[in-house]
Amino acid sequence: MTTNDSAGGAGRVQVHKGGGIGVLGLGAYIPDKVVSNFDLEKLVDTTDEWIVQRTGIRERRVVEEGETVVSIAKKAAELALADAGISGGDVGLVIVATATPDYFTPAAASLVQHAIGARACAAFDLNAGCSGSLYALIMARAYIESGACDYALVIGAEILTRAVDWDDRKTCILFGDAAGAAVVGRVGQGRGFLSSMLRSDGEGASMITIPAYHINEEDLGRRGGVKKPTVWLEGRKVMKFASRAMSASVEGVAAAAGLGVGDVRLVVPHQANLRIIENASKRLGLAEDRVFVNIHKYGNTSAASILVSLHEAEAAGMVKDGDHVALVAFGAGLTYGAALMRM
Ligand code: UT7
Repeated sequence: MTTNDSAGGAGRVQVHKGGGIGVLGLGAYIPDKVVSNFDLEKLVDTTDEWIVQRTGIRERRVVEEGETVVSIAKKAAELALADAGISGGDVGLVIVATATPDYFTPAAASLVQHAIGARACAAFDLNAGCSGSLYALIMARAYIESGACDYALVIGAEILTRAVDWDDRKTCILFGDAAGAAVVGRVGQGRGFLSSMLRSDGEGASMITIPAYHINEEDLGRRGGVKKPTVWLEGRKVMKFASRAMSASVEGVAAAAGLGVGDVRLVVPHQANLRIIENASKRLGLAEDRVFVNIHKYGNTSAASILVSLHEAEAAGMVKDGDHVALVAFGAGLTYGAALMRM
């Protein structure tokens, strides 16, 4: 069942009537190594004060040399499987959401599948920028509803610190490494995902890029002729887009589920910039204690962000049985969207 999207177009806000499919277990892997803003002061022309004021970030985590997207994804996945009380052999779908894969091919998901002992199941990577794990959760929900399997493993894993230019103060201060994982499966009636919307606005595709084999002249010009496969973004423009897109998405999924924003106990937003989160919260009229924030500890971990956050929110007792929780994200594409769940 669907309702019309106020933004128009072919996409709809989807109503998952009666729920019934949701998150059964969560896990996260956070690398041990901490890099503070003060450490970055020694690398580029920046200050702790500037970074805290403009982004809310105080420190981020960085993987060790031998760690890979697959190795950190596996660690988060194993914790999520244990939390759900199932084993790798029960999993019928593995999706790894990442914009920083170890290999373009094979998919990280196939390697994770093997590493956790899942067999004869579907596995693929998904790139929707920082919205990747939100997209993956909703794809997994639909796959389970179709009857193709009982359990799906959704992982957001990123090693952004290998994709940033450590000489570029505009981007290197923003990102960190992490992996988050969720087991999606059947939950009780009236629980789980109640509504969702996934969107892409490709008109803004040039605002956040990491090039691969081809790079057009326009993009090369923007990057000052530098072809390095590093993150480049037009931060100001993204900020404007993001707070609007996030607030509209939360309103959209709440309305589709027959609820007001006031009924949502906790919003778990993608952690890109504290100012974006605060602007979106203000538009939604949400008090501080209704919006989860951990950007000060980890920076922007892209596709890992909302799964790590949901895991931490649950571990901190901020999410109780029966609560309505909204996940909301935006990222390269420009992608954005939200999902409303009842725990
Ligand atoms: O998750 C999706 C990907 N994430 C994003 O797309 C990030 C979204 N955007 C943002 O978070 C913000 O736009 C930033 C944090 C990236 C930048 O904040 P801003 O308030 O938009 O700053 P700005 O880019 O307009 O730069 C303001 C000034 C500039 O100097 P001038 O031109 O005013 O002299 C920059 O050169 O701050 C300067 N600046 C810095 N100064 C000290 C930029 N980076 C730094 C830095 N330290 N690290």
